[in-house]
Amino acid sequence: METTDLKTIRISHAGEYDGETAVIKGWLYNKRSSGKIVFLQLRDGSGIMQAVAVKAELSEELFESLQKLTQESSLIVTGVVHKDERSVGGYEMSIKDVEIVQVAEEYPITPKEHGVDFLMDHRHLWLRSARQQAIMRIRNVIIRAFEDFLRKEDFLRLDTPILTPAACEGTTTLFETEYFDKKAFLSQSGQLYTEANCMAFGKVYCFGPTFRAEKSKTRRHLMEFWMLEPEMAYADLNDLMELEENMISYMVSEVLKNCLSDLKTLGRDISKLECIKAPFPRLHYSDAIKLLHGKDNDLPWGEDFGADEETIISNSFDRPVFIHRYPVEAKAFYMKPDPEDPRVALCADMLAPEGYGEITGGSQRIDDYDFLAKRIEEHNLPREAYEWYLDLRKYGSVPHCGFGIGIERTITWICGIEHLRETIPYPRLINRLYP
Ligand code: 4AD
Ligand code: MG
Repeated sequence: METTDLKTIRISHAGEYDGETAVIKGWLYNKRSSGKIVFLQLRDGSGIMQAVAVKAELSEELFESLQKLTQESSLIVTGVVHKDERSVGGYEMSIKDVEIVQVAEEYPITPKEHGVDFLMDHRHLWLRSARQQAIMRIRNVIIRAFEDFLRKEDFLRLDTPILTPAACEGTTTLFETEYFDKKAFLSQSGQLYTEANCMAFGKVYCFGPTFRAEKSKTRRHLMEFWMLEPEMAYADLNDLMELEENMISYMVSEVLKNCLSDLKTLGRDISKLECIKAPFPRLHYSDAIKLLHGKDNDLPWGEDFGADEETIISNSFDRPVFIHRYPVEAKAFYMKPDPEDPRVALCADMLAPEGYGEITGGSQRIDDYDFLAKRIEEHNLPREAYEWYLDLRKYGSVPHCGFGIGIERTITWICGIEHLRETIPYPRLINRLYP
């Protein structure tokens, strides 16, 4: 049978073709058969749909080869789409014809349980499973929502280099590489360049992979993660927190609008997301320390929070919470001290609820030339590599702010999953560079 004049549809759009004959190009996800009927679960990347082959309606040869099909065989299936409440996705296809493109070899990932290491070794195939597909689609919607939001707010996207001559977030997590006869570092953050772009365009953001040689093995750290970093001129810390909470609220509303079935696949408790609405609580670092002391955590004033502290704080609120004004010593060299209390910086981290912890880090930047030069020296950073950055404080310096949001940490929280290794197609972990 000729399929060329028939419409090829995506499973996610099956509802628009109720009663029509259509073509689905995909792969075999699962199969059941009785002597006279074969139920093929097809996946095409947009969803899963059951297609039913009835022996009496097909050639004997075709029916036999369908009975023998292996998982992940590639197929072009023609049939009539119709509503079926019992079916995954609510639609089913009655098969008229099947073109078998390739019969797959025995597939290593079967519907039975596999260990994490095995799945990670087969990450290139694991991405075909329903759970991973749900996470990746949510990832896509989250990124799109952030970019839509920033576009509406008039931010310009300008990308920043990955090969850089200097550190942004401390020298202990730098990945070093050869750059002809010099050394280069993989970018830890696009921030310094984004500040320059901000002085050129007013409101900008960058979005790209960032790299940190994190020597600890945790559920929250990747060596390569994606960060989106907005920066705005003539703005203070309050403006920054307002931008962040509005951006997160918008993102959550888009996920709830577009990803309900994927959230369901993941077993996510939607009510935990429905309450994520701006404004978010704002807690001074000193008050956060008091909160910790009231909950059997005795972290002394002055130290940065680790996973334990973040978990306690983030479990204390039903929506994301800002911790602002951390001690200057605990934070990066470029943060502006609070003029009212120079022991603390004009900075804020946003901690996601349900124990997920830090998802954003941001601050008002030092805008005074001499003071910034002093901080660079105090941090033992090589001044030559930062001359261009200091220039920004010579030519029309203004108060400015920015933050970075880790995409994978955000996805982990939104999906309600355990470990951020599942939120990026190919995670780079301390003990994993393959595939
Ligand atoms: O708090 P961080 O280090 O802030 C910066 O890099 C600033 N330069 C951003 C800016 O102001 N433009 O990192 C920002 C966010 C964290 O809140 C976290 O979500 C994520 O990046 N992040 C990581 N995500 C996964 N794995 C890691 N190793 C991460 N390190 C940071
Ligand atoms: Mg941080």
